[in-house]
Amino acid sequence: MDLLNIKINYKFQKPHEQLEPFQPPHNFFPVPMLQWLMTYTFDLTMQVPPYLVNEHYDDRYFDVVNAIEEAKHIYFRSSGIMDILSAAGPGRKEFRIGETGFGAGRLLIALMDFLDNSGITDLEITYNSVELHPVTSERMASILGGFKAETGPLIDQLVRTYSQVEISRPGWQQIQLTRPFGILTLNLWIGEALEMVHALTIPCDAWFLDGHGPKKNPAMWRRELLMAIGEKTVAGGTCATFTVAGAVRRGLTDAGFSIEQRPGVGGKKSVLKGILIN
Ligand SMILES: C[S@@+](CC[C@H](N)C(=O)[O-])C[C@H]1O[C@@H](n2cnc3c(N)ncnc32)[C@H](O)[C@@H]1O
Repeated sequence: MDLLNIKINYKFQKPHEQLEPFQPPHNFFPVPMLQWLMTYTFDLTMQVPPYLVNEHYDDRYFDVVNAIEEAKHIYFRSSGIMDILSAAGPGRKEFRIGETGFGAGRLLIALMDFLDNSGITDLEITYNSVELHPVTSERMASILGGFKAETGPLIDQLVRTYSQVEISRPGWQQIQLTRPFGILTLNLWIGEALEMVHALTIPCDAWFLDGHGPKKNPAMWRRELLMAIGEKTVAGGTCATFTVAGAVRRGLTDAGFSIEQRPGVGGKKSVLKGILIN
């Protein structure tokens, strides 16, 4: 496994070296083991399309294969947010999410798709996110283009609504999306993550930490930011992330989370879930 990881990193292509983009369709690999194997194989050989690379960090916005399923596994199923929602009982439910690193909204698309298929119809989601280098709605459409077959109307709705956001204006911007599960309000802070966390007046029920890997972007995992996130989480609230790096585990533990490593998905052997205990 470690050998494979080394090969993956070694073979990672820079944008200027890239040839043909490849986006496998949803359910291309229906069998989990085959899916796992193919993820490695494709990462070893495939080229990363330039529009999927965040030029500010020389890193992909998300993994090229099965990124929607990966998001559902790491941030929704593994972190147990459905259990929290179900435990709230019948009636209109409010749920507040914080995300570090909005990017092109892939996690938001995955969340809406997940909730649309959950059978819930009366949910009010407040989705607080932050982006230091916001993309245009045209770039968002390109980045999300690989998911069109599975979530086309959802992407169209997000891109259309997001085009109202003034990406050159710092601070909060708000848009609303009406979905079968209820209403989602996106509060997007244009600026730096710590500013956004400080600007939150109500703590979140769940945090999705997705700001590039700690090696590529240590600022998104700095202790000061993780401590602030802990302070803006309700008791029993959760955090989830794709990285299990030691510094991240220690930072989240110091911030008051009880951390658990959970089985990963695709190219990720394990992922992190945290519950705020103090
Ligand atoms: C991995 S991408 C986000 C992917 C996104 N969550 C998705 O699922 O598509 C991380 C994002 O965090 C943004 N970012 C990096 N450092 C930041 C910071 N200090 N404050 C705010 N945003 C930051 C990057 O510009 C990038 O768009």
